[in-house]
Amino acid sequence: MSTANSAPLMRSRHVTYFVQHGTIYAYHNLFGYIIAMSPDLAAFLEFHNRAAPGGAPRTREEADARFGKAGQGEWDAAQLDEFITVFRLFSCLIESDEAEATSVFSMVPVRSRWLVYHAPGPAEVTLWRTDREGRTLIDPLVPWASRLFLRLDGAATLSELTDELIADPEVGPALKASGDPREHVRREVQRWTHSSQQYCKLSKVPLAKFGKEHQWPSYLKSTMPYAPWDPAKDPTPVDALDPVGVPLNPPHAYYETGVTDAAEQFASVETTLSHLFRSPHPLLGNASYGERLADAFWMRGLFGPHVRRIVEVGGGLGHLAAALLTDLRTRAPELYEHVSYTIVDLSPALRDAQRQTLMDAGVLDRVTWRPGNVETMDFDAGSIDLLVSNEVVGDFTTVKLTRELCGLDSDFDEPDLLPPPANDTIAFLRDHQVNLRDAPDPFFVNIGAMRFVRKLATALAPGGGAYISEYGEVARYPVASTQLDHLEFSIHFGQLAQVARHIGLETKVEYLHDLVGLDRSGRTLATTRTYFQNLRSMLGAFGITLDKVGYTDAMFVDLLGDQLDPESIGELRFDSVDERCMGLSPHEFKGLIVRRTAA
Ligand SMILES: C[S@@+](CC[C@H](N)C(=O)[O-])C[C@H]1O[C@@H](n2cnc3c(N)ncnc32)[C@H](O)[C@@H]1O
Repeated sequence: MSTANSAPLMRSRHVTYFVQHGTIYAYHNLFGYIIAMSPDLAAFLEFHNRAAPGGAPRTREEADARFGKAGQGEWDAAQLDEFITVFRLFSCLIESDEAEATSVFSMVPVRSRWLVYHAPGPAEVTLWRTDREGRTLIDPLVPWASRLFLRLDGAATLSELTDELIADPEVGPALKASGDPREHVRREVQRWTHSSQQYCKLSKVPLAKFGKEHQWPSYLKSTMPYAPWDPAKDPTPVDALDPVGVPLNPPHAYYETGVTDAAEQFASVETTLSHLFRSPHPLLGNASYGERLADAFWMRGLFGPHVRRIVEVGGGLGHLAAALLTDLRTRAPELYEHVSYTIVDLSPALRDAQRQTLMDAGVLDRVTWRPGNVETMDFDAGSIDLLVSNEVVGDFTTVKLTRELCGLDSDFDEPDLLPPPANDTIAFLRDHQVNLRDAPDPFFVNIGAMRFVRKLATALAPGGGAYISEYGEVARYPVASTQLDHLEFSIHFGQLAQVARHIGLETKVEYLHDLVGLDRSGRTLATTRTYFQNLRSMLGAFGITLDKVGYTDAMFVDLLGDQLDPESIGELRFDSVDERCMGLSPHEFKGLIVRRTAA
């Protein structure tokens, strides 16, 4: 047993928990620390809660007896040491309360990322945020607090900043007028670091000591928008990514019944690249995403005289369908007259929105719907000349596998000598010769997207083709998007293309920015989901409507007009469009183009 960790310890009173997709996050309300943990570690931390049976502080012997191998638990002494060390480092386990509260003055406050505030003057700050119920909260700071907030530079300690404030002739007198100024500052900063606010985090050292921004501890860059979790009342969270060999919860039910407000779905819940560029955009040569995609289809022979039957899977708000049909009507009116455009979609609310968009565009006459889940749908042989699926297949069924289950570490290289496939997914992967040699352990497989591509072998008419876009990489195994309210995965485009080739289709994977000709030298507004909501509320108060589009600097200045000085808005961030556009990373998006050779 280690002697370094032997002092009796208790869980800090300032720890609260949050949960997202089975992972528990402890948030330290005094410093803003965030650490992710599994439920067993949360139970260990709670064992040190002074409200726990037996009461804290707990000695190391008690922790050993409950969690150590020698007692009732599973951890060896080295593991326990490590957990205690980390929990102490993040002040989740402490020896006394007093030391905690006063230590804030020696720390360096760092203003949080993704805050929205209006600061028309050096002592006038109003913050805008959204509570868990989606209500907008407006928080005007008093002049001394405004000045302190704008001074948080990640270099000075709270003690130094407090001395500056007290000596400041403009705000110092007000701060000193009613009681102990240091206590006022301490209370205000404690409010700011609290999980309900998260205006700043406290660092033990100045930011410069960490080096470049990507080397800062992640809690200094993160926010915690997840649901609260109460260890005393709430069930132990289950990690949705845990089950092996079986389909992980695809979001079918979510789309069928969970999407009620179609426009809000794309504005605030889950946006798509095609949505951000649905209107003519300077970085697309003043064309829309759909118009540029139509150009790409003509250039690659996906559009042409052979195209009569188009199927779009997952139509969203209908903008892409409207743009593609409008393009056909303009460029090839005779072709347009004979085109049928079928939209397959799960969501009744989105189907209604599609109908409206297509009616507004005057192309409704060409469109029919096939409601339902495409994963369980069959298509008649040779019934599709062009299949379009834009940013949808990440929603399809994904399965987690292990190398052992797939027999990947067997000594023999002969496929015939492999053990029989343990499940349908593995059988499919073997049948289609999907290369898994480089698979991490465990790994995910986009089985729904692969089976979808498999259907194209017969569904596409000879000479027909398909365009399937999503975010993902050519050689990266699927990664779960945990920030959404439903589970979805990036696409392993290399494997998807292998399936397509195996069934005899010609394939090509292209970067979406190349397909639509995005001007990658441009910069666009970078946001997160809550940042967008907050900025939208703040601009709304000035009579400005913030839309979900990829704003360039010039577009944003135009939007503000004379209503608001962009310099007074904190913190606007314009990044290279390829790196981050609103909340998306356009360089991550790819398009798989497949073609069935003409008979
Ligand atoms: C992320 S949105 C993409 C919408 C649109 N293509 C775009 O680029 O904005 C996903 C769309 O696919 C639909 N969808 C998701 N899974 C589906 C499935 N299994 N079968 C049919 N439609 C599905 C949803 O209802 C929604 O319209």
